[in-house]
Amino acid sequence: MTAPNPRKILVTSALPYANGSIHMGHMLEYIQTDIWVRFQKARGHECYYVCADDAHGTAIMLRAEKEGITPEQLIDRVKAEHEADFAGFQVAFDNFHSTHSEENRYFSERIYKACRDKGHIAVRKIKQLYDPVKELFLADRYIKGECPKCGAGDQYGDNCEACGATYTPAELKNPFSTISGATPVEKESEHYFFKLPDFQQFLKDWTRSGTLQDEVANKLQEWLDSGLQEWDISRDAPYFGFEIPDAPGKYFYVWLDAPIGYMASFKNLCDQRGDIDFDAFWKKGSEAELYHFIGKDIINFHALFWPSMLTAADYRTPTAVNAHGFVTVNGAKMSKSRGTFIKARTFLNHLNPTYLRYYFAAKLGASVDDFDLNLEDFVQRVNADLVNKLVNIASRTGNFIAKASGELSATCAEPAMVQEFIDAGDQIAGHYEKREFSRAMKEIMALADRANEYIQDKAPWAMNKEEGRQQEVQEVCSVALNLFRQLVTYLAPVLPEIAAKTCEFLNLENLNWEARRSILTSHKINKFQPMLARAEMDKVTAILEETKTELEKENGGVQPAAANPADKKADKKADKKEKAKGPALRDDGNEVIADTIEFPDFAKVDLRIARIIKAEHVEGAEKLLQLTLDIGNGETRNVFSGIKSAYNPEDLNGKLTVMVANLAPRKMKFGLSEGMVLAAGPGGSDIFLLEPHEGAQPGMRVM
Ligand code: MSP
Ligand code: ZN
Repeated sequence: MTAPNPRKILVTSALPYANGSIHMGHMLEYIQTDIWVRFQKARGHECYYVCADDAHGTAIMLRAEKEGITPEQLIDRVKAEHEADFAGFQVAFDNFHSTHSEENRYFSERIYKACRDKGHIAVRKIKQLYDPVKELFLADRYIKGECPKCGAGDQYGDNCEACGATYTPAELKNPFSTISGATPVEKESEHYFFKLPDFQQFLKDWTRSGTLQDEVANKLQEWLDSGLQEWDISRDAPYFGFEIPDAPGKYFYVWLDAPIGYMASFKNLCDQRGDIDFDAFWKKGSEAELYHFIGKDIINFHALFWPSMLTAADYRTPTAVNAHGFVTVNGAKMSKSRGTFIKARTFLNHLNPTYLRYYFAAKLGASVDDFDLNLEDFVQRVNADLVNKLVNIASRTGNFIAKASGELSATCAEPAMVQEFIDAGDQIAGHYEKREFSRAMKEIMALADRANEYIQDKAPWAMNKEEGRQQEVQEVCSVALNLFRQLVTYLAPVLPEIAAKTCEFLNLENLNWEARRSILTSHKINKFQPMLARAEMDKVTAILEETKTELEKENGGVQPAAANPADKKADKKADKKEKAKGPALRDDGNEVIADTIEFPDFAKVDLRIARIIKAEHVEGAEKLLQLTLDIGNGETRNVFSGIKSAYNPEDLNGKLTVMVANLAPRKMKFGLSEGMVLAAGPGGSDIFLLEPHEGAQPGMRVM
């Protein structure tokens, strides 16, 4: 059914980088967008949802090289993984393309040339640090050294975490390239700049024209007031991207062609379908609506550079840019060592995506506030709302109909109540439209409470035992199922799978928003089939375990020591957009030294001398030995350690070593591990357990 005044709406989510897995943080965005798109489609609008992998840049080039494959091979593989993850969460793109595509090359060149021909491109030489071994210009995040001000070691090329000083990479003392370990040299090269200051006035107006959330517009105001800088849009070879027209050896910086990927993906969709007019959505003055859903970390690219480029090239600008906050898990930044850096795939291995879609909707508003995925609350909430409230309505009434005539009653016994549920749809739609999903969920659940009260009050199961009340039973259950249908109509954008099962059960073609207005009477329905099992905390625990195990694999089978790629400043500080995967290696193959910590941080780790009183094989474990450790005062600890590839258990019996005694115990497949022993080395037969000098006794603290 099309709406009375169908709108043309094009919606995008940010393009995920093609060098990493989709995780819970990403999923917030794609689920938020998908819900909004499904809502618009259910309302009968002409709405398209496009996305793509963001396939260019140094990080992808280096990652492919490390894996010994071409960048094209890497991005193809990752694209297939990403698409499977999205499908697993029922994120229904109309098209998922790649920025490494002919469409994207075409539009990138076109937009660039338009900017150039209008005088918005400047070319000038700049000096930059260069890795003479790798023969590569180094972005700031690939350079480390000592702070020029306070001398703190292991600092990134732009500011010091220890004293807060800011500086240029060239000012670092004893700098090194985190790619090769080589000492960088300064080298001059010609760069291409987009003259953003040309758009100062345009941006002042555009950012205040209802295109942005207030909090975002206020933030941008500060930047606009402090003056805009020209934007460096070129990178020197070697680079994985598109070569700039008439500039051999110069490539478009990944962020130049990334947003153009939205257009490219849509063009690709138009070409596949044949019935959508590309220009109607992108030409200047277009009446179609264009929305970008993004995270708050990439606002400047979408709200400054992108609208300016579009204007310069005579395209329309976005109707709105909708930013969301960041996902935290149990109140903290996602962390690999805590097992909370949860990949989409890991979640799907254990839990139904419906749970996550609902939890996100239930807590998400239109602001840029961060979103906490609290795992206990998550389990409790989805069970309370979806299983106990929603599905319960149908499961308690459905089969009374199926067992009798199989038809809903000929007249509705509570038309006023059903009508109220129908009318509530307008307000709920208002919340969806404004991306206030949590408000929508709250109203829907209040209606569900009322439906349950009605059923509880009538108690059809009791009536059914009495002679001659069968018609009443049918009437009550028919009311309940009409209410259920309204509720699922409202929840369908969030819960597509439950919507599909409800269509099957209630024998309906769809649950489109307008279709809800008729009350179902004398309507044949099908047998009720279970719709959703309870979420179990066990499964959540299994997800955390699997996430930690993956980290162990990345660390070569040894239990992770302090090194934790996800938590390291390397990831946090690095341009979030082009995260290099894993800890940086020096050219001797060793990790670069981790960030400086203060003594109190170190003192939190309680290291103890431990005697290995028993070491044994673990059945079914490829990498682990089970160690029983004496840590003094008669206390023993059971520890599983990934050292089997390097040690025979019998060689360890009686030996002293060092253990972390205050590490939170971890449930592993083979039992509880109560700490870890310290070892060095890359893995395989090269694992070396620490052993103290003679005289140390079990239980002594190591400082
Ligand atoms: N490739 C760029 C986007 C280019 S758009 C033209 C990029 N990729 S990303 O993979 O790092 O992030 C994709 C989207 O996921 C971004 O909108 C980002 O904000 C979002 N998120 C990534 N981690 C996130 C959380 N932990 N929480 C919420 N959203 C996060 O940026
Ligand atoms: Zn410093």
